[in-house]
Amino acid sequence: MQSSYRVVPASAEHAPSLPGIERLAASLFGDYVPATLLDNVTLESVFLDAQRDGTLWVALGPDDTPVGFSRVVVDGVRVHLAELDVLPEHGRRGVGSELVGAVEAWSRSNGYGEITLTTYRDLPWNAPFYSRLGFAVVPESEWDAQLRHQFEQEAGLESERDKRVVMRKWLSTA
Ligand SMILES: CC(C)(COP(=O)(O)OP(=O)(O)OC[C@H]1O[C@@H](n2cnc3c(N)ncnc32)[C@H](O)[C@@H]1OP(=O)(O)O)[C@@H](O)C(=O)NCCC(=O)NCCS
Repeated sequence: MQSSYRVVPASAEHAPSLPGIERLAASLFGDYVPATLLDNVTLESVFLDAQRDGTLWVALGPDDTPVGFSRVVVDGVRVHLAELDVLPEHGRRGVGSELVGAVEAWSRSNGYGEITLTTYRDLPWNAPFYSRLGFAVVPESEWDAQLRHQFEQEAGLESERDKRVVMRKWLSTA
């Protein structure tokens, strides 16, 4: 990541800007994703809850304002990467990778065994991006009820199902 950025646990004061970052980051999808899904951004209250739980990280730009964020939800030994967004004007500088790195470091230090996520299979900044960070596609035959629920919820529409995948990175505890 370029040195003018830093990734830190979010503060409450960062939360109001995050829905706007999510909306602007969604422009990267163009017509590939239905507009109804892209318009449906996360409520500020969800970010505030995550901030209180310590499950939200922000990337701060040169002026110390957020340019991206990652948010997870925890279920048992599994950490699920629920959201990852970076403003397009700050994209492709390693910020997204570093936000995933922060999730991974936190997951390891808290003894979690795996990180999961759902994403689009063919967009270069989705499954191929996560593959480079060590995630692998989980075949549907291996989904448990929890992964199936995440997949259904995050696909949003029936039309999206075939374009999406579940991915996982196992974390060694050694
Ligand atoms: C996914 C996302 C957070 C990555 O953030 P980022 O800061 O650009 O991430 P990095 O700089 O670490 O890596 C970006 C890599 O993604 C790919 N990528 C990103 N934008 C791309 C684009 N417009 N066209 C092609 N590849 C792209 C490239 O492989 C790039 O690596 P490179 O620049 O070395 O070629 C950002 O693209 C984003 O917010 N996308 C919209 C929301 C989204 O898709 N979130 C993830 C949903 S699961």
